[in-house]
Amino acid sequence: MRAVVKLGGALFKRDLDTVALRKIAGALSDFATQGNQLVLVAGGGQNARAYIVAARKLGADESTCDLIGIKLTRANAELLRIALGSTAVSKIPTNLSEVSHLAGNGKVVVLGGLQPGQSTNAVAALAAEITKADVLVNATDVEGVYTQDPKKSPKAKLIRSVHVDKLLNWAMAGEVFAGRYELLDPLALKILQRARIPTRFVSLVDPGNIIEALHGKVVGTRVVY
Ligand code: UTP
Repeated sequence: MRAVVKLGGALFKRDLDTVALRKIAGALSDFATQGNQLVLVAGGGQNARAYIVAARKLGADESTCDLIGIKLTRANAELLRIALGSTAVSKIPTNLSEVSHLAGNGKVVVLGGLQPGQSTNAVAALAAEITKADVLVNATDVEGVYTQDPKKSPKAKLIRSVHVDKLLNWAMAGEVFAGRYELLDPLALKILQRARIPTRFVSLVDPGNIIEALHGKVVGTRVVY
């Protein structure tokens, strides 16, 4: 199986949780050594946001803030790569052709951001498209996609399946500032829409959820086309 997993910023807290990183790396490493091709995309998390906020206060434009965000996502990717040990490719790719080239080598490819104007969710969608992934798992700090923001509204309900067009409508109404790309930015969704990549949103709190989603089990929210 060919898979891409986006590990959301929630995994990379200000005080980095090496126990959680090791646990998730262990589960994903087992999946990869069972003969599966795996590409991992690391989000930016609290540290990326802190740097972006500071840069903006100091007068940086949004593209510069994005570039700083990318550096932090790459630092997170390095941590994951280290946690994976010899299962992972030693180089963090910085463009899509490198992703496609490295993915065929039998080792896990780990990367962060690629270019300004998008989130690591777009990176994950592009990586899934170029590696012809059978599945894309987007792991965040909530169980999936909700009717409302579950952190703000107690009435929010988990949606088991959601059409890509609906996600696109929501994304178009959201913001596209550095550090504030919403659940999925429009570019990420446009890529999913054109490549029709089987995608699931799950929680990363339990790595078992991610593995179940990779095996096609009913967990979290499925994107339909
Ligand atoms: P993300 O916003 O994707 O990180 O990248 P995240 O923490 O995983 O976000 P959630 O958890 O999905 O919400 C951090 C920042 O890095 C820049 C953007 O500014 C982004 O907000 N970035 C990342 C880019 O500009 N280009 C990329 O390809 C990736």
